[in-house]
Amino acid sequence: MTHSSVKPQSDESAMRVLWANKISFVPFPLSVCSPCLSLFLSYVHRVCLCVPGRDNACEKTSYMFLRKELPVRLANTMREVNLLPDRLLSQPSVKLVQKWYMQSFLELLEYETRSPDDPHALNDFLEALIEIRNRHNDVVPTMAQGLIEYKEKFGFDPFVSSNIQYFLDRFYTNRISFRMLINQHTLLFGNDTNPAHPKHIGSIDPACSVADVVTDAYETAKMLCEQYYPAAPELKIAEFNAKAPSKPIQAVYVPSHLFHMLFELFKNAMRATVEHHEEDKDDLPPIKAKVTLGKEDLSIKISDKGGGVALRKIDRLFNYTYSTAPTPSLDSKRVPLAGFGHGLPISRLYARYFQGDLKLYSMEGVGTDAVIYLKALSSESFERLPVFNKSAWRHYQGAPEADDWSNPSKEPRDASKYKAKR
Ligand SMILES: Nc1ncnc2c1ncn2[C@@H]1O[C@H](COP(=O)(O)OP(=O)(O)O)[C@@H](O)[C@H]1O
Ligand SMILES: [Mg+2]
Repeated sequence: MTHSSVKPQSDESAMRVLWANKISFVPFPLSVCSPCLSLFLSYVHRVCLCVPGRDNACEKTSYMFLRKELPVRLANTMREVNLLPDRLLSQPSVKLVQKWYMQSFLELLEYETRSPDDPHALNDFLEALIEIRNRHNDVVPTMAQGLIEYKEKFGFDPFVSSNIQYFLDRFYTNRISFRMLINQHTLLFGNDTNPAHPKHIGSIDPACSVADVVTDAYETAKMLCEQYYPAAPELKIAEFNAKAPSKPIQAVYVPSHLFHMLFELFKNAMRATVEHHEEDKDDLPPIKAKVTLGKEDLSIKISDKGGGVALRKIDRLFNYTYSTAPTPSLDSKRVPLAGFGHGLPISRLYARYFQGDLKLYSMEGVGTDAVIYLKALSSESFERLPVFNKSAWRHYQGAPEADDWSNPSKEPRDASKYKAKR
């Protein structure tokens, strides 16, 4: 890619042409698999372990890495966007997201050949990253809106829906990784270092107290819950450290990621509890949090007595369009407690991003246990990224296949007949 002279253009169609030209230079399959993973690890070692502040050598290393890695990650994800059905791509919200990606890609290309010794390059790059991060702040609600628009116009199609699910898992993982890299750079080399956390390395806390994040997330969810319901359940928290029994459990982790997952789980547990015990709002069963540390796993279980979910429905809770709450209005000034259906699937992506997972175990009629699994050792918490290769491409092309197990449910078995109707 040798297009440093390219300036971001306001005219959308010109940008599209430019974009098409640019990404055709990016080889396919793209290099996000092992070479970039090891690059990321060396980035973490060489850059993330620098002392925060403007260490020039470290900032140059980071600059050299990110000016290539960030556009590659953007290009990867945008190529995959183009494999989505045209009817989804033509929704205004989806178009808007595509426009943001295009613009950011072009802005990053300006640095492709700009020397790190150029006296303004590092500063300009830092400012560009902040602007790009801000531009992409609303990608998730905007995409969610696009899905709602699509569903309202064209209804439910099992084949398209499974492709969208596959795509969004990869698209949002890419976004998490993209923001992680930008945040590391801006926190380490910019002025937005948080003085409240001088020991953090960028966004990573080398001694993150898990119980503290659990409490913070609970308190925040409780405040929100009390805006919608007359009461919120109490929290009971317990720790079990199997490695060092008397010590509090700490992890090398990104506290904001952990907070995100826990906040979503608490909102869900609170809503289920309050709605299941409507008659009994003065005596709500508490939500229990249990934090455990073993040799391999650091696990956090959030248990509620909110009535649970039937086994048949458990898998669909991770669907991006599944919610039993009314769809919140985007114009409302109030932060919604539920309704976009993105809480669980995105939290699971955060857990998986550093090789962990998120699972739900429910007993219908009683309640639900949601468990976040993290790696106990930071040496095992490397990035898990989507690989853009032929297998991924094939995923979007295949014809829907009929079930190869008998299925007594009334739900669609053979997705191909729905495809034929489109
Ligand atoms: N702890 C829980 N107990 C009962 N139902 C739950 C629980 N957690 C999630 N759910 C169900 O899963 C759905 C999807 O959850 P989520 O992805 O967080 O989206 P949202 O909260 O916006 O609906 C919820 O609408 C709810 O029906
Ligand atoms: Mg939720």
